[in-house]
Amino acid sequence: MSAEPLRIGLLGHGTVGAAFAELLDERAEEIERFNGRRPVITGVLTRSRGEFAQILDGAELIVEVMGGIEPARTYLLEAMRAGRDVVSANKQLLSQHGEELFELAREQDVRLRFEAAVAGAVPVVRLLEESLAATPIERIHGIVNGTTNYILSEMARGSTYPQALAQAQRLGYAEADPSDDVSGRDAAAKMAILARLAFGAPVHLQDVSYEGIEHLRSDDMEYARELGLGLKLIGTAERRDGGLSVRVYPAFLYAGHPLSSVSGPFNAVTVESEAITEITMSGPGAGGLQTASAVLGDVVSVMTGGARPPAPPLALQLLEDVPSAFYLHLDVTDEPGVLAAVTRVLGEQDVSIRSVVQRGLGERARLVMVTHPVPESRLRAAIAQLQRFEFVRSIPRSICVIEEEFG
Ligand SMILES: NC(=O)c1ccc[n+]([C@@H]2O[C@H](COP(=O)([O-])OP(=O)(O)OC[C@H]3O[C@@H](n4cnc5c(N)ncnc54)[C@H](OP(=O)(O)O)[C@@H]3O)[C@@H](O)[C@H]2O)c1
Repeated sequence: MSAEPLRIGLLGHGTVGAAFAELLDERAEEIERFNGRRPVITGVLTRSRGEFAQILDGAELIVEVMGGIEPARTYLLEAMRAGRDVVSANKQLLSQHGEELFELAREQDVRLRFEAAVAGAVPVVRLLEESLAATPIERIHGIVNGTTNYILSEMARGSTYPQALAQAQRLGYAEADPSDDVSGRDAAAKMAILARLAFGAPVHLQDVSYEGIEHLRSDDMEYARELGLGLKLIGTAERRDGGLSVRVYPAFLYAGHPLSSVSGPFNAVTVESEAITEITMSGPGAGGLQTASAVLGDVVSVMTGGARPPAPPLALQLLEDVPSAFYLHLDVTDEPGVLAAVTRVLGEQDVSIRSVVQRGLGERARLVMVTHPVPESRLRAAIAQLQRFEFVRSIPRSICVIEEEFG
């Protein structure tokens, strides 16, 4: 006699939900062969179909692929209170109400899985929760937004920002309203979730500082290429001086960094620790089938008793002014003494220079330099002083540089 099927209630039947239903249908027999039970969808909820209470009643496991905060939050809380395991792909919800959900999952001793909420098909949640559960992590760098990575890859090939964005929209990599992606907010939500997993501290979306890519210019990328640098939108979560810093920002990387070669709409995450040096995973960060495959992986993880919800949070101070190397772009009048005046101001703020490119453009010159690490407040103070010089012709531009290289 074969075992009872695993009854799944599916909340949402859009891009991910429909792909999940199809993939489940294809893979159900194989899953049954390995795990002894066949997963079946017993109810589907959309705005025009199904009733939540009835779906909950008929299911053992709830898969939430609706998105948004409400009613997804209420449904997941109700499902866990009723003793159901839950799987969600909802980064907004996890990054803003994660603690509430984790606490209830611990209280009710149910599983709460959310692999697809972070980097689509890249199994970084499982890496942190299971494989590296005993490894003290020092830093995570991630390219966790495929839309911006695609746009920056196109800009590196010579497109302007508006051209690259329009192309991303034509190919379906960017939505008609791309603001969540290009402002860095989407990546910030994902970094909040990763930071909670890696460092155990209760990081919420509002704790993550983020800066987007709208203001970036292709000429910055050209100059940076001469310095051996490529530009990415990076999310960083790192432990420093007993505190924690979580931020999203455009950053230049040297070619030796594992994330420097990740281009197009891909996602990738590098986890660093003394014990493992670094581990990098990359793959598709979005797409119906790709995300559905991560959701189905979570269903199987629940069937096999996979990881428990994260432990109660630790108190870690969130830091703001962390040191970084910077790229600094100055548009100046080409006259004697300018370079000396610039280096004096930088020196007064303890900003030391690693490399410089100087380009004469008639009466003007471009000074493009990379600094050694310095607290951001120091660089801002130096920029404020530089702006007062008459020979500085436009607002200086600065971008973080990630210095680590491996291998
Ligand atoms: N798309 C991706 O590539 C991707 C990647 C990673 C993670 N995710 C996450 O996966 C989730 C789903 O994304 P998606 O792209 O599949 O979204 P979607 O295409 O907009 O589908 C959302 C589905 O949820 C239903 N829904 C929304 N609000 C509802 C409500 N109040 N009551 C009942 N049903 C409701 C919609 O119903 P109707 O059909 O009636 O409109 C639709 O079926 C989101 O959390 C998203 O962040 C998506």
